[in-house]
Amino acid sequence: MKTAQYAPEPQVTVLDAGGQYCHLISRKVRDLGVYCEVRPSETPASELRARKGVIISGGPSSVYEEGSPQVDAALFSLGIPVLGICYGQQLMAHLLGGRVEKGQKGEFGLAFLEVAADSPLFEGVAGRQQVWMSHRDTVQVPPPGFVVLARTDTCPIASMGREQDRLYGVQFHPEVVHTRHGKEILANFLFGICGCLKDWNPAERTARIEAGIREVAGNRKVFFFVSGGVDSTVAFTLCLRALGPGRVRGVYVDTGLMREGETDFVRGVFREHGDAFSVVDARKRFLQALRGVYGPEEKRRIIGEEFVRVQEEALESYHVLEEDWILGQGTIYPDTIESGGTAKAAVIKTHHNRVPGIQRLIEENRIVEPIRFLYKDEVREVGRELGLPGELLERHPFPGPGLAVRCLCAEAAAKVLKVEDGWLLPVRSVGVQGDSRSYAQVLCLEEFPSPEGLLQSKATELINRHASVNRVVALVGSKAPLAEMSVSPASVDESRIERLRRVDAIVRRLSHESGFDRAVWQFPVILIPLGTPAEPDSVVLRPVDSTDGMTAQSVGMPGELLSAMACELWKVAGVSAVFYDLTHKPPATIEWE
Ligand code: XMP
Repeated sequence: MKTAQYAPEPQVTVLDAGGQYCHLISRKVRDLGVYCEVRPSETPASELRARKGVIISGGPSSVYEEGSPQVDAALFSLGIPVLGICYGQQLMAHLLGGRVEKGQKGEFGLAFLEVAADSPLFEGVAGRQQVWMSHRDTVQVPPPGFVVLARTDTCPIASMGREQDRLYGVQFHPEVVHTRHGKEILANFLFGICGCLKDWNPAERTARIEAGIREVAGNRKVFFFVSGGVDSTVAFTLCLRALGPGRVRGVYVDTGLMREGETDFVRGVFREHGDAFSVVDARKRFLQALRGVYGPEEKRRIIGEEFVRVQEEALESYHVLEEDWILGQGTIYPDTIESGGTAKAAVIKTHHNRVPGIQRLIEENRIVEPIRFLYKDEVREVGRELGLPGELLERHPFPGPGLAVRCLCAEAAAKVLKVEDGWLLPVRSVGVQGDSRSYAQVLCLEEFPSPEGLLQSKATELINRHASVNRVVALVGSKAPLAEMSVSPASVDESRIERLRRVDAIVRRLSHESGFDRAVWQFPVILIPLGTPAEPDSVVLRPVDSTDGMTAQSVGMPGELLSAMACELWKVAGVSAVFYDLTHKPPATIEWE
């Protein structure tokens, strides 16, 4: 797909030498008003000729490791400026005849940089300054013609450059906030050295995307499955603005597994667009399909299959497969970047790919993906431009299969067991240990979770010691002694989903009122089938901090807020106890499934 449809031609390419590192650089470049793209590190130099500059990202590898990321060495003789960051500097030194030394201990954290030579890279940021370092190897001898531009106490070549060829390297990370003048250094490279122009601001972005949608759609109509999440809502709204409500149709599937008020909220967002938005009520179908199902994978499979059927029926009833329709999708930039040979979107949105009708539209290239060049923050900025409610734009991520992955099931009854370190709760939850997913029991401590995170480190230690558990929780409070509680058989049924919806709504309200929701990345609330015969379920609170969901840290909560939550959760009929999940990811996952 041509970039030009929704975004300008990139002025800068960030070559990806190590996963997430490159995206942070790319986002900082865009924040400075310069549109840029991320490409694999091995991208042939001939494809980069039109760029004003190239940045080689950092990454966890060593240039001496077999299979470590490479760049096309012809890049350095294209006559365009190149900046190597961390691993990028080492690779540049290695390929141009310098020497890289393998580090034993490495350097991680704050360091003080001394600028050692006049250079446009350090224009206006002279003197001693704080930088952020994270590396093992270092450049020991710069390549011929390069001069040392800066050093730290422990890193003699913290920056190097060959001014006549406009080739630069830095060992520190200008893209992280801890590098005090990182933004200025990147700006010096972009504007002073590469001569980039500012071509990327929110207002122009929106107008350009709308023009792109009109170009792609031509005379055709656009059909969307809207999930209520930020991405699909922004993409759908852009299409409505670009083409008018008569040529756009959005369908939202109510699976019955939504949070409280969700369907009405989404309906409210699109109320003014009349017939362009409609809700398919599939609540009964999903609950029926989930009856008597216990295993997490089976729950996911059944929900996925039901989704496929509902989506196929919707495509049929709106005659979307006919010539004058195309499919709109809320794919965003990180979903499209190849990592390990596959674009992430292909992995995450598998249920979409399994709908034969959608597959056909994709194969025939009958799709419009208006935000496929935007990062999440940029999607939010566009959403604000469009006047979408802040409540929608700032919401936490929520899993596609909905509350079903937070409603734990059990096939058989089982008793709680006292063990040396606490209590073994006989519910099993999903975890990630090494490369594989685990499915194991939960260890419960009888201590009150403190905000300092002390119990979190104890949790990690306990899991390393006990092979049979992958998660540790603390007991916040219970109506009956733990010894009298047991697990009873339960699946996802209407009454348990309703109970989960209520407790989730209570937690959401209190964390919003206290501002705690802005301090965490996501706050799942889980229902587990553990309790007494009169009150068979318990609630688990799982606030986490994360940047992308791939890893996450359990976070503590102010004691007052926790007490207030527990007090309100008690009042919900059927709830016996409240627990607090202390486990980081890995070894646990964010969701319990
Ligand atoms: P886990 O539980 O694997 O979750 O640590 C990582 C992140 O992914 C979210 N998640 C999903 N998102 N569809 C989604 O769109 C899904 O099926 C799904 N499952 C998990 C989860 O909420 C967390 O943010």
